[in-house]
Amino acid sequence: MAQLWGGRFTKETDQLVYQFNASIGFDQKFYRQDIKGSMAHVRMLAKQGILTEEERDQILSGLEGILSDVESGVLAITSEYEDIHSFVEANLIDRIGDAGKKLHTGRSRNDQVALDMRLYVRDELMEIDELVKELLITLERIMEENLHTYMPGFTHLQKAQPITLAHHLGAYFEMFKRDRQRLHDIYERMNYCPLGSGALAGTTYPLDREYTAELLEFAGPTQNSMDSVSDRDYVIEFLSALSTIMMHMSRFSEEIIIWNTNEYQFVEIDDAYSTGSSIMPQKKNPDIAELVRGKTGRVYGALVAILTTMKGIPLAYNKDMQEDKELTFDAIDTVKGCLALFEGMISTMRFRKERMENSAKNGFTNATDAADYLVGKGVPFRDAHGIVGRLVLYCLDKGISLDDLSLEEYQKISPVFEGDIYDAISMKNCVERRNTIGAPGAAAMQAVFEKNRKYLEEN
Ligand code: ARG
Repeated sequence: MAQLWGGRFTKETDQLVYQFNASIGFDQKFYRQDIKGSMAHVRMLAKQGILTEEERDQILSGLEGILSDVESGVLAITSEYEDIHSFVEANLIDRIGDAGKKLHTGRSRNDQVALDMRLYVRDELMEIDELVKELLITLERIMEENLHTYMPGFTHLQKAQPITLAHHLGAYFEMFKRDRQRLHDIYERMNYCPLGSGALAGTTYPLDREYTAELLEFAGPTQNSMDSVSDRDYVIEFLSALSTIMMHMSRFSEEIIIWNTNEYQFVEIDDAYSTGSSIMPQKKNPDIAELVRGKTGRVYGALVAILTTMKGIPLAYNKDMQEDKELTFDAIDTVKGCLALFEGMISTMRFRKERMENSAKNGFTNATDAADYLVGKGVPFRDAHGIVGRLVLYCLDKGISLDDLSLEEYQKISPVFEGDIYDAISMKNCVERRNTIGAPGAAAMQAVFEKNRKYLEEN
């Protein structure tokens, strides 16, 4: 057991207490951020004349040595240290002696861990943003390939009106684009440096917090030392953004699972992204989509856990906050894994255009257009709705679609119908005539493609 705070104690910590309290098992994940933070701190201390330049250089080369030895596997992070901060400091003192004992001047583990966690979340946030962007690039490619791939649009999971695959996927493009915007917002808000807040009440050393913040590429220092050491809002916001990303991927997964069923056959998931059954030889299961859907609960769990942990914490630092790490790390790993696999699954998936189009042709998805046709001939919409409703009933009885009715049959129900009804309700026209902003018609979608491409170039 290597502890930083033995001086005041007359007894060894109970072994179980030590293990219960220690965080090295998980906070070793941010050794890079911890060392980077220490380097900035030491540079600032020397600039302020609190350390000599010689001490600064000794400490910096000691820290660089620790970093490269950990990276290369020469130096193992072991459980004999309480946390990553103790590990680094103890190793530094081993390597450079007395100068190493000055590293922690004007610093507490409270502002140190607040910094490490912020740096870690900031790094991971950018990586996740990049993964969401790759997903958007793939979506845009599939959309552009499917401008004229007709399929039914659903409400209540009942066929509603024909749309295109490009339009359907375009809805997910918007969701994932908002996810990135959310990440960027969080980045802006969290990008302030807590280091220099000390244990809770700042410090008497003349620290230059602006300088430390600048070295670590923050927009500036945080403004209240109590808040700085006890704020985990950014963790909550980040987990909320990750939960929303998972919710979007989960909805998409649910659709893929439905589309992949024998009943729909709208898509075929690539063999490399499917699994088989140990007993049923015919099976090809959409396990990846199911796992993404399933793991969503796990990320929500992290969000609820941290919200619950934080709700009872009086100012300022309390050890409860150590619980922020494992769940955040797990959520990050989960989301990164899901994003990468999900992108791989949809980029290799086969869209069965014919099945989609045939499905759109059935189920009276053009009934609204038949009513709109009558409106175009002067029939009030409510009356048109009733007329087409009667036509649908008639077709259902005969087991045919609106396209199969003869003109006489149309005219028997309303004399307003003429020969141009067939063109008006053709699936192609139903879709392509919808060109209001955000609609599935090719002209409207082309405008969206242009916006999307510009967005991907600029962001
Ligand atoms: N392992 C601690 C955490 O994760 C580091 C901060 C410890 N500070 C303290 N005063 N015990 O929160």
